[in-house]
Amino acid sequence: MKNSIIAGIGHYVPEKVVKNSDLEKVMDTSDEWIIERTGIQERRYGKKHVETSTTMGARAAEMAIKNAGIKKEDIDFIIFATLSPDYYFPGNGVLLQRELGITQTEIGALDIRNQCSGFIYGLSIADQFAKTGMYKNILLVGGEMHSMGLDFSTRGRNVTVIFGDGAGAAIIQPTEESGRGILTTHLHSDGTFAEKLAFISPGAHSGYFMKYTEEDIDYGFPDEETLGGVFVTQKMVDEGMLFPHMEGQFVFKTAVVKFPEVILEAFEKSGESIDDLKLLIPHQANLRISQFVQKRLGLKDEQILNNIQKYGNTTAASIPIAISEAVQGGIIEKGDLVCLAAFGSGFTWGSALIRW
Ligand code: ACO
Repeated sequence: MKNSIIAGIGHYVPEKVVKNSDLEKVMDTSDEWIIERTGIQERRYGKKHVETSTTMGARAAEMAIKNAGIKKEDIDFIIFATLSPDYYFPGNGVLLQRELGITQTEIGALDIRNQCSGFIYGLSIADQFAKTGMYKNILLVGGEMHSMGLDFSTRGRNVTVIFGDGAGAAIIQPTEESGRGILTTHLHSDGTFAEKLAFISPGAHSGYFMKYTEEDIDYGFPDEETLGGVFVTQKMVDEGMLFPHMEGQFVFKTAVVKFPEVILEAFEKSGESIDDLKLLIPHQANLRISQFVQKRLGLKDEQILNNIQKYGNTTAASIPIAISEAVQGGIIEKGDLVCLAAFGSGFTWGSALIRW
């Protein structure tokens, strides 16, 4: 069996910088609260009705393709992770193929809906395909256009202030070099708490979740007598049900347990020592979560990367954006031991250990 490597990495963040003070103008929040609870100072928002998670993913992909020294025609498989796709269906994978002008149809495109852990799930899938020799140049993208689906009233402030837009991309290739590349990946899930962090509607659910009542069902959910239903009702729009919902403290408390667990699992299973860790790149969910993980694992400041201060939480994009910046900045070099870890909605979580 071959190993697989990240042969090229890229990222794209939109131009528009949204500071905490900009959010203060539309909701009851404060720069002080946001910085103290999350570490976030600013985030980027894509250009409305021009940019999407697909277009931003394409810009990141172009950089990754260039850095890998390949051509777009060499891509033989696409994986796209996002929770903010352009359409309900089809998924961003095929839209990215079109956006990049990849016309060969022999290739496949797969969409991943694993939210914050989407990039790590995608990396694990790409690793399996590359190692077995099935594909030679897999394009993995994580991209988010959160700003098109957030509640900018005070009602949505706990969720809205943490998210930002952007995309990251990687080219995964098989390699003959032993001891290098993706050493191990670990994926986990627990559906028990699916609704603790969720974007429920529009969806084909039957109204069993939280705010839905018998009255809502009369608004268009399917019942015994009618044959069909609708994804979106006026009542959902009026009551702000079409936004993400999060029980922040519950998610936080679970995250600070699962992050260290899954990171240590990667070291234990791979036989590598955490003493040799060059850099931990955690999903950028909240600076306080990263600081907790750093303390728990006894890592020095230079062993953990945090860029949430300037981008917010970009969900599936946060890890590849951070890797790309670290490579650009010369923080990661060939031979370094790098650990990736994520936790988020689902709950799903995972880790990957890479010998760069
Ligand atoms: N501005 C001002 N006040 C606020 C804001 C805000 N933006 N948001 C909430 N508050 C208020 C609340 O209303 C509450 O007020 P009350 O005490 O009067 O009721 C108070 O602040 C505390 O609210 P909490 O929700 O308990 O605040 P907390 O300290 O937990 O911070 C946060 C909220 C930042 C969301 C935190 O819980 C968190 O980061 N959770 C984890 C997020 C995460 O990791 N998500 C996973 C990845 S995302 C994904 O998978 C898609």
